[in-house]
Amino acid sequence: MKNTESVFREAEFNLWAQRAKLELGELYMISHYLDPQKSTLEAGAGGGRILLAMQAMGFSQLNGFDFLPEFIEVARQRDQQGKINYQVQDGRNLNYPSNSFEQLIYLQQLVSLISEKTDRQKMVTEAFRVLKPGGLIIVNVLCMRSRQGLYSLLLFWLKCLRIILNKNLSIQNQPWLRLKGKPNFKALLDLGPYIYWFTENEAVELFKSAGFVIEALGSDAQIKNKGLFTALSVPQNEPFTGSLYLVCRKPY
Ligand SMILES: C[S@@+](CC[C@H](N)C(=O)[O-])C[C@H]1O[C@@H](n2cnc3c(N)ncnc32)[C@H](O)[C@@H]1O
Repeated sequence: MKNTESVFREAEFNLWAQRAKLELGELYMISHYLDPQKSTLEAGAGGGRILLAMQAMGFSQLNGFDFLPEFIEVARQRDQQGKINYQVQDGRNLNYPSNSFEQLIYLQQLVSLISEKTDRQKMVTEAFRVLKPGGLIIVNVLCMRSRQGLYSLLLFWLKCLRIILNKNLSIQNQPWLRLKGKPNFKALLDLGPYIYWFTENEAVELFKSAGFVIEALGSDAQIKNKGLFTALSVPQNEPFTGSLYLVCRKPY
């Protein structure tokens, strides 16, 4: 598979087209930070799982986009009320006018799916542009801080392989470890496409440099425990599991 688009078209399609219900972290982020009365846009909406769950929670002005037309077709079919506005768009170059939405959802590590730094910057800059001043974005990204234990062995292996093969690629770019819900053994050969694992600092800087103000952050461990921190990093003595979640605001 040569890029993220082909991963979703060829390997991950059925999984994401048909999934239902929110994960714990998603439910927490949506119910704590989003307002059912406000206009919402979900990026990388896939088969519409998150927006359908939000419709059932009473959210009304719902919009979503995905760069694969096949996903948008399924998402439209699954929306029996026909009220969710879906479009085929690429998050790096959106057609929505500036200041269109009051709140944005960039969950399921969407920004980590982009392997090129400039493309990740474009995606976040576009999110900033289409959000109304005063609006909120909820995000999660893959984070190196949760890549501990056995993963360190894999990272060591990938680093060695890259030295041997003279491959100039940051260890934060890592091959997909699971595809079609199963282990992807080709990851051991360091075959792309790659997903990007952020450091906490980098993720914060990416959103700050686009103009956002970070209001809260934390990992799945904080969500399960006492909630996100209103600081710019998770204290070192805190557990850190799963994704890094960010809540950011576009200033007035
Ligand atoms: C992990 S799936 C999540 C789908 C959906 N949000 C959910 O949680 O059920 C990620 C989705 O992002 C889409 N995607 C990836 N990169 C994208 C981009 N640059 N622009 C728009 N959609 C993108 C993929 O096609 C896929 O549907």
